[in-house]
Amino acid sequence: MSSLIYRSASRAARSALSASRASPFFFEGRAVAAAATTAFRGKFSSLSSFYEKANSKSASQGWIAGALSLLQVSYMLQDQEAHAAELERTFIAIKPDGVQRGLIAEIVSRFERKGYKLVAIKLVVPSKEFAQKHYHDLKERPFFNGLCDFLSSGPVLAMVWEGEGVIKYGRKLIGATDPQKSEPGTIRGDLAVVVGRNIIHGSDGPETAKDEISLWFEPTDLVSYTSNAEKWIYGVN
Ligand code: RTP
Ligand code: MG
Repeated sequence: MSSLIYRSASRAARSALSASRASPFFFEGRAVAAAATTAFRGKFSSLSSFYEKANSKSASQGWIAGALSLLQVSYMLQDQEAHAAELERTFIAIKPDGVQRGLIAEIVSRFERKGYKLVAIKLVVPSKEFAQKHYHDLKERPFFNGLCDFLSSGPVLAMVWEGEGVIKYGRKLIGATDPQKSEPGTIRGDLAVVVGRNIIHGSDGPETAKDEISLWFEPTDLVSYTSNAEKWIYGVN
């Protein structure tokens, strides 16, 4: 019977977690875990009272089994909380040269195959003013004007990717700014030749990622969902 309670409790916790993942607060790990715990507590107390009614002569055994189940599920939730708190998002854009050269599928598949999750995507032709906002930190550089002209010269595939370490590792997948210096195996190393046509942009840190995501996307464009592959991509042994 205790395993029945544990299975029911696990199911309740899983459903509370999956409901919380659909919420825009998913990345507030603490808020989610608290919400999931609250939701779970409600389900758990009804499960407990059901069990106690059905098996009143061993109510104390039921209570112990319930307490153990609660501990196990709390552990599960803490684990989930730690994982949710670690996930991050970055802004990645395929520049007009990458789009025109038919490299969208190649680039998207490298992020997908790594195990990162696509949470927003759109094809846009940015205005020059928009490009200037995007590259505002380079406004003193001699190539700034040409760079903004280029970024606004055609379609850009704007994306948000999510996953553990995606900001830093996304930059590794992309490779060094100058494709002459990018390692083979990186996107720029394999697919580009000169710095002025290096096909892809990636946020260079957590603050930039946050700013760029909110420059290119509305909060409602970002889709929070559980990928079926996640349980095979993340895990601790
Ligand atoms: P991005 O922002 O596009 O991901 O590139 P990044 O961080 O690797 O390099 P960053 O210094 O931010 O430069 C932004 C883009 O400016 C162009 N660039 N041209 N010497 C040059 O002509 C030069 N240096 C940089 C590149 O398109 C670079 O991606
Ligand atoms: Mg940059």
